[in-house]
Amino acid sequence: MVASSGAPLLVASNRGPVSYAVGDDGALAAKRGGGGLVSGLSAVGPDAGALWVCAALGDGDREAVRQGVAEPGVRMLGIDPDVFHDAYNGVANSVLWFVHHMLYDIPVSPVFDAGFRRQWAAYETYNRTFADALAEGADEGAAVLVQDYHLCLVPGMLREARPDLRISHFTHTPWAPPDYFRLLPDDIAAALLRGLLGADRVGFHTRRWADAFVACCRDVLGEDAERARTTQVDVHALGADAGFLHERSRRPDVAERMAALREQIGGTDRAVVARVDRTELSKNIVRGLLAYRRLLERRPEWHGRVVKLAFAYPSRQDLAVYRDYTAEVRRLAAEINEAYGTDGWQPVVLHVEDDFARSLAAYRLADVALVNPLRDGMNLVAKEIPVVSDDGCALVLSREAGAYADLGEDALVVHPYDVEATADALHAALSMPRDERARRTKRLAAAATALPPQAWFLAQLDALRR
Ligand code: G6P
Repeated sequence: MVASSGAPLLVASNRGPVSYAVGDDGALAAKRGGGGLVSGLSAVGPDAGALWVCAALGDGDREAVRQGVAEPGVRMLGIDPDVFHDAYNGVANSVLWFVHHMLYDIPVSPVFDAGFRRQWAAYETYNRTFADALAEGADEGAAVLVQDYHLCLVPGMLREARPDLRISHFTHTPWAPPDYFRLLPDDIAAALLRGLLGADRVGFHTRRWADAFVACCRDVLGEDAERARTTQVDVHALGADAGFLHERSRRPDVAERMAALREQIGGTDRAVVARVDRTELSKNIVRGLLAYRRLLERRPEWHGRVVKLAFAYPSRQDLAVYRDYTAEVRRLAAEINEAYGTDGWQPVVLHVEDDFARSLAAYRLADVALVNPLRDGMNLVAKEIPVVSDDGCALVLSREAGAYADLGEDALVVHPYDVEATADALHAALSMPRDERARRTKRLAAAATALPPQAWFLAQLDALRR
């Protein structure tokens, strides 16, 4: 079935560009989101006839779907809440995210039992719902850009329904090496890879993740992979949006937050170590605090002379491990303050309510940024800080972040599990002469903005239409 007046360009992602909340008066309020994909898609302009297909995530979204409320160019799918929960929390966030970030506590998990098989069936249904909506909404020969690990089966399903379409898939996470990927049940590992190979092109943020994907195809599918239709594997390293960041970070609300933070930091000559993350298991916030504690233990010269700003914003609080992790971050920050704090000095300032203006304020103030994920598809914070920084900021960066491929030369690179080495890197970063820090920051900012979101999006679209 080919739509006669469908969209020539479609994007599919779990989380869409808009979300709805039901207010106290019962009215629906729409809130538009940001992020790389939203700003990337803006490159094609409002007249491109693009359609964004996404899932209804919460009750507000489902109410909007029920009432038929929709933003132009957005189709939200009202998926049964139980199916959504099993697909999103059960499979995408608790299994695929864990596999690609290698987060399992292997002696006890994962366990693939009957409950998991039910969740997997939900993941198939959820992917089928997307594939059906895309097939229905796409014009003859349209370009369809499918996003991320939530939607691995969509390219294959869509290819079957609509062989005329040009389909790409982009993975924003890392990709696991074969031995780890094969923790998945064999049939499911194969289904995920075959699903992606339904695309004409698959994209990753770095060569490392792309190579791991190819290695998994060889290992799991063997000769079948060679016989499959040809899928091109691309690398498009998403960069920061300099224009947006410069403008946004110079607004009055950011200046207000800077004043408030300065107050919390106390003493104008104190150095600032900043980190900003979702409270996500892969971000390694706990070891970051342990490294900071080691710095204070081993180098008393920093007592009273440094403050760590740690912003850890809530994420995936439906999952118990994320709630426990958040509690551990809070506990450790309090423990460090208890052990080292004095009347006039609080060594760790922890904020857990999401506030983008305050994040930008921290980016501007930071002397040192700590970005030490266990594994990360890209990590845009590492790219944003050098762009926004007022006086230059030394970047302590995990070699396991995708951003390492672009920023490794001018960062202080750390092994994310090595807390001693991370403490040393923090000391080196804090001790870096100002002019060297400024010079490195300039080069980091140039590397970070090499492929801004709009160019990143257009590069994928051009490749797909070629
Ligand atoms: C991060 C990852 C993306 C992922 C998103 C999902 O931003 O880089 O790969 O799609 O998280 O987050 P959510 O809050 O929607 O579960």
